[in-house]
Amino acid sequence: MELCSITGLKGKITVPGDKSISHRCVMFGSIARGTTEIHHFLKGADCLATIRCFRTLGIEIDENGSTVLVHGKGLHGLSAPGDILDVGNSGTTTRLMSGILAGQSFESKLSGDESLNSRPMKRIIDPLTQMGANISSVLRNGCAPLYISPGRLHGIHYESPVASAQVKSCLLLAGLYADGVTSVTEPSLSRNHTELMLREFGADIRSTHELDSTRATAAISPCQELYGQKITVPGDISSAAYFIAAGLIVPNSEILIENVGINPTRAGILRVCEDMGGDITLLNERVESGEKIADILVRSSRLHGITIQGDLIPTLIDEIPVIAVMAAVAEGTTVIKDAAELKVKETDRIETVCDNLKAMGCNVTPTSDGMIITGGKLKGASIHTLLDHRIAMAFSIAALAAEGNTKILDSRCVDVSYPTFYDTFEELL
Ligand code: S3P
Repeated sequence: MELCSITGLKGKITVPGDKSISHRCVMFGSIARGTTEIHHFLKGADCLATIRCFRTLGIEIDENGSTVLVHGKGLHGLSAPGDILDVGNSGTTTRLMSGILAGQSFESKLSGDESLNSRPMKRIIDPLTQMGANISSVLRNGCAPLYISPGRLHGIHYESPVASAQVKSCLLLAGLYADGVTSVTEPSLSRNHTELMLREFGADIRSTHELDSTRATAAISPCQELYGQKITVPGDISSAAYFIAAGLIVPNSEILIENVGINPTRAGILRVCEDMGGDITLLNERVESGEKIADILVRSSRLHGITIQGDLIPTLIDEIPVIAVMAAVAEGTTVIKDAAELKVKETDRIETVCDNLKAMGCNVTPTSDGMIITGGKLKGASIHTLLDHRIAMAFSIAALAAEGNTKILDSRCVDVSYPTFYDTFEELL
């Protein structure tokens, strides 16, 4: 994909369904009784991997456009897979499914692509093992492929060293099959879609936030049955983020993004944009299936650098590549810290973001837990995405504010979370 600078992005758009919520609808629907009806499901490669895996586990799933029907068979209705479960590029599929599979009475094996199979899985293997699960890294390197065999699970309290919704959700799902309460405390609250949605499905789940601390705990009791739900997936704020950034940094722009999920555990990007001086208005705020939703109006703005750190980080972790792009054209310096988790995403995003920003002429310094960016003018470059969807999309936005042409290598990797990304773009020209 080749892109160059433009002005005047104008229009009204919607973005595809939220990736985290789409995964969870299929997973929870599969182990619930009855049919789960999902509207505005994200048909990105990651969520399609989740569908594929649950079909391999014997669940009938009908797809009709972005409507998906999951014919759940109850908590104990999955059947032994005849094959390896292919999780593709998806960390969410791998980690959340491992929690479910740990509670089954059959063996299973999960494996993904090269990037997925190099991401850390010890963070789920260790606590699942404490719960009594039999789960191991086939190559004994702490990564997938993972092998899971039946084990008797008991509830534990786990203090997670990282704020990770995937770790938390994995343990809560295993907790459905355990013989006591399972609770997870994290250093600061990560996205809470699992807690909100499992409650809708009928699980007994409680969330508490410690006073005078950012620590948060979620606890689940084993349950007899979950029940199928009807869910409309909100637009993914992580996808909207690219058009929010485009609206702010491309001169003479005004973009309305409708029906976006603004759950506070996901909406850190909105706070950052406002703190940077961005003109953002939330319209038509409402709550559907426990999730906050709004339309987001964005207008071109003069941005300035800020410091982004602490408990804000988990609420915008996937948006850091595009936030870095905004920082690269803002006035002054932006410091991003407490974000060491970036190193274990689809790529080491401290490295991929900094290398590509440098190629575009930006003054950026990587640090052990983030980066320091001094804003200025960008020039076109060849962007090495390393097949990371968020790098491809973030640097497509950078291209709009750069002098000369920018080439996004392997740009089709956007299919992982936003197959229609470049089509939405066209709607704004
Ligand atoms: C996700 C959690 C986050 C996020 C990922 C999706 C989820 O990962 O980066 O894109 O759906 O639970 P971590 O749990 O590793 O922080």
